Amino acid sequence: MILTKSLPIAVLVTAFAGPSLADSHNAHMEMMASGLMMPEMNAAKGRRLFAEKGCVVCHSINGVGGTDAPMLDAQFMANPMNPFEFAARMWRGAEAMVELQRDELGGVIELNGKELASIIAFVHDAEEQARFSEDDIPEDIEAMMGHMEDDDPHEDTDEQHN
Ligand code: HEC
Repeated sequence: MILTKSLPIAVLVTAFAGPSLADSHNAHMEMMASGLMMPEMNAAKGRRLFAEKGCVVCHSINGVGGTDAPMLDAQFMANPMNPFEFAARMWRGAEAMVELQRDELGGVIELNGKELASIIAFVHDAEEQARFSEDDIPEDIEAMMGHMEDDDPHEDTDEQHN
């Protein structure tokens, strides 16, 4: 049958030709197996989200951020990185994170899949991380950080918050 023979070729072309051929109205989406799409992974957006969502209160990147949780610099990530592994690591750390977020942020951070995708892109992008500075941190988040660093005795980075 013609149809069953041509189908695998179409799938192959889609897989290797990149996003422009794959889907014109959603150029940044990449089709994966079985009807799954990878969302846009935008490291610049991720840089903003990492600060705005409050990850930075506990995790540092480029020496900016709290010291209550593991540093998330690209150099500590697998290369190439499986993005789902990052999510799985968050899941493994979930219990400790939720408890600490309730304590320090007054609630648990809400994330949708697109936001997480961009945060993961940022976490893996050393170039974008080099741009990360105190200026990325909104005031309300910075306020939460101020009182946390007081009770951390083994601060080993030289960041200062006013
Ligand atoms: C209130 C503090 C806090 C905030 C805010 C926070 N985390 Fe965490 N996170 C932790 C702690 C504590 C751990 C360590 C858990 C452990 O060691 O079991 C952790 C673990 C992780 C891990 C696993 C690290 C590893 O080495 O395996 C990842 C990944 C992670 N967090 C990502 C994030 C992201 C992304 C955000 C923002 C959306 C975020 N965290 C916000 C406290 C926080």
